[in-house]
Amino acid sequence: MVESILVAGGAGYVGSHACKALDLAGYQPVTLDNLATGHADAVKWGPFVQADIRDAETVRRTVREHNITAVMHFAASSLVGESMVRPELYYENNVIATLRFLEALTAEGIRQIVFSSTAAVYGAAEAELIPETAPLVPTNTYGETKRAIEGALSWMAPVHGFSWAALRYFNAAGADEAAEIGERHDPETHLIPNLVRATLGTGPGLKVFGTDYPTPDGSCVRDYIHVADLADAHLAALAWLRAGPSGQGRPFNLGTGKGLSVLEVVKAGERVLGKTPPHELAGRRAGDPPRLVADPSAAQTAFNWRATRSDAETLIRTAAAFERTRM
Ligand code: UFG
Repeated sequence: MVESILVAGGAGYVGSHACKALDLAGYQPVTLDNLATGHADAVKWGPFVQADIRDAETVRRTVREHNITAVMHFAASSLVGESMVRPELYYENNVIATLRFLEALTAEGIRQIVFSSTAAVYGAAEAELIPETAPLVPTNTYGETKRAIEGALSWMAPVHGFSWAALRYFNAAGADEAAEIGERHDPETHLIPNLVRATLGTGPGLKVFGTDYPTPDGSCVRDYIHVADLADAHLAALAWLRAGPSGQGRPFNLGTGKGLSVLEVVKAGERVLGKTPPHELAGRRAGDPPRLVADPSAAQTAFNWRATRSDAETLIRTAAAFERTRM
């Protein structure tokens, strides 16, 4: 019999790619999403339950109906800028909603939880390659709420006998190789989709935010990780949890260990798209740390995961292919 995995936030960007990866690996993803920011037409694999993670009755019924023992939890508000304007919304949608969700899941005896976390838990980290043991000093409410949930998982797991992994994504980017799904944020604030839109003429010219940072070319350096690599990591983490003891868990960085500057991404855009992305050099964007690059070795060691599609060319090529499907 095909095993079902509950995917909260399965209609969203990373969640929908996880659903596809689960389907390919022979699982049935069961998407639970309230469509606050997700898209119904991104649910292409497995059943869809349109509900909020706070709706304990529906969560519990879904778990029972599909015999679910493992959950991937992507459902969250995830815009850093918005989190600084409406911090209470982020506590409500991320912390409070997740607590309600965890209560329902533990009442049904869920055994494994893979949680979508973020490099924003580190804030402006000092290390060249940031390890999971780096201090957690988030500089925005979004990162703070993810840190709070990681804490809740660590204290609840031994009490309720589930195991967990919090996957701290660095900069998620790119789209499904077949362009069936991709990134559709509204508003779009991320570098790669903005660069693609500027170049294809579906969005305004790109602004390069800051050229006076203490980095080799003065623009910010990030660790971009392909969304399908992230999806694979969720499956690998689940297998790792299943092989280990219950009541335990830990965070893992998901990144490549290699940084790319904004200007390097613009140059890669030119190579991939055959035209210089229309861009202008602009001032710094508030709250951007100069450099954030993962030490991804823990995930490599624990569950033998490494990024295989996260080079700039693949990221931009797949993001552009998805954008073209929407033109
Ligand atoms: N940038 C531009 N122009 C744009 C958009 C972005 O120059 O139009 C720059 C930013 O200033 C930054 C870099 O490109 O230097 C990356 O910016 P993104 O907005 O794509 O991503 P962030 O690094 O700001 O944030 C992302 C996620 C967060 C997550 C964080 C963790 O959006 O949710 O990575 O590292 F918390």
